[in-house]
Amino acid sequence: MEEYPVVDVSVVPEQRASWSGKLAFVLAAAGSAVGLGTIWRFPYLAAHYGGGTFIIVFLGLMLTLGVTLLVLEAALGRYTQSSVIKAFASFGRRWRPAGVFIAIIPFVISAYYCVVGGWVTHYMFAYGAGQSAQLADGGASFSAFIADSPQSVAFMLVFAAITFITVALGVNGGVERANLIMMPALIVISFLIAIYTLAQPGALAGLQYFFVPDWSKFSAELLIAALGQTFFGLSVATAVMVTYGSYMKKNVSVTSSSLQTTLTTLGISLLAGLMIIPATFVALGSADAVAKNSGPSLMFLVLPQVFVKLGVAGSVLGFVFFLLVVFAALTSMISLVESDVTILQDTLGWTRRKSLLIVIIFITLAGSVVTLGYSSLSFIQPLGKGTTLLDFLDFLTSSVMMPLAALVTCLLVGWVWRPDVLVDEVRESSRFRLRRAWVVMLQYVTPVLIVLVLVTSLLKAFGVISF
Ligand code: PFF
Repeated sequence: MEEYPVVDVSVVPEQRASWSGKLAFVLAAAGSAVGLGTIWRFPYLAAHYGGGTFIIVFLGLMLTLGVTLLVLEAALGRYTQSSVIKAFASFGRRWRPAGVFIAIIPFVISAYYCVVGGWVTHYMFAYGAGQSAQLADGGASFSAFIADSPQSVAFMLVFAAITFITVALGVNGGVERANLIMMPALIVISFLIAIYTLAQPGALAGLQYFFVPDWSKFSAELLIAALGQTFFGLSVATAVMVTYGSYMKKNVSVTSSSLQTTLTTLGISLLAGLMIIPATFVALGSADAVAKNSGPSLMFLVLPQVFVKLGVAGSVLGFVFFLLVVFAALTSMISLVESDVTILQDTLGWTRRKSLLIVIIFITLAGSVVTLGYSSLSFIQPLGKGTTLLDFLDFLTSSVMMPLAALVTCLLVGWVWRPDVLVDEVRESSRFRLRRAWVVMLQYVTPVLIVLVLVTSLLKAFGVISF
């Protein structure tokens, strides 16, 4: 067996920032994980795939595969003290291309995430300006907004600018502080809204619909969706957690902070479901209607109709809800921008300032192009008729690049570099009681599951199979 340490400690830049403690890491990692995927995608996936059935499968995947990958990536970042390209290259130069492949992912996601960030920022302002009734017009105002390029580009830029400023303020002064403020606020607001919506008449039937499993909905498609939600929802397989792990001090437990991050993300996912599904159930009247309306439009088209029925309280609720979504989206976007910046910094030896400047230019241009995908560039339909650039980039990252990234990482750590390297790293700060289970997960279970899901979803995307 080859021996490491391959990492030459003398080349570790001395000034590398570090989180002030465990809470800072957990809040930042959970901040990255909890985002549009949690609040927007999870509730509609759960509603669509039979409520409790999806929740149980998702819970199982998060607590096994999700935690495995989180421990792996955080330990890899901390062991190598670098972002993903340098981390891979520190095991030998030939692994660098694999690192480069993974490093592309946060750049692509940040290019379209800011666009949806702009949409939710617009909704927050619109509710703040008392436009609850206009937003509830069944989608006309939403379609008009995304097709109005100056307006939607402007909101995308406002959203992105907040993350640029945060990252410019540094890891401790910006990223850590932003999460320290926004994450607790987000948790409190989630509780308040969930309690309010559950207190509405009829909500209990919706609650039952959300939690009670309907096993007839269990399918390969459900499994693919749950796995995709595990990756995207936990921000693993994207280089982000390697970057955040590289700021982790040696005395902070990798295992318990990964578990806490996962549990926080799970908790907020369930709260998001509690905020949205019972209320939608009340407004639409039946489980069938909820399932039918449980697509991506749930948040932008259906929820405003729910809010408007609540009168003035609904306007306030709409504003507070979208404030929460903006917070969630910002903390995720911050993790993407921070990762983009460190990747350039670590790999090309640029200063943080220069790296950030290049990232700002990239996101401004790429985000504008993706926004124009709904207006002047709408003829670009890479996934077929009616699809947009954003749909394509989302599919490319979530369904293709992230599973491949997770597969490559598991195979390299599990079989080529050997898990012991990272087991020792984890043990620097805590016991690792589930070490054996972790090794089995990353050597066997995760790769097999990913290959199955990847092949099935590609066959489906190209129309070879259908379900
Ligand atoms: N986890 C975020 C969400 O659920 O919205 C999205 C995300 C952020 C994915 C950062 C990947 C990533 F690297």
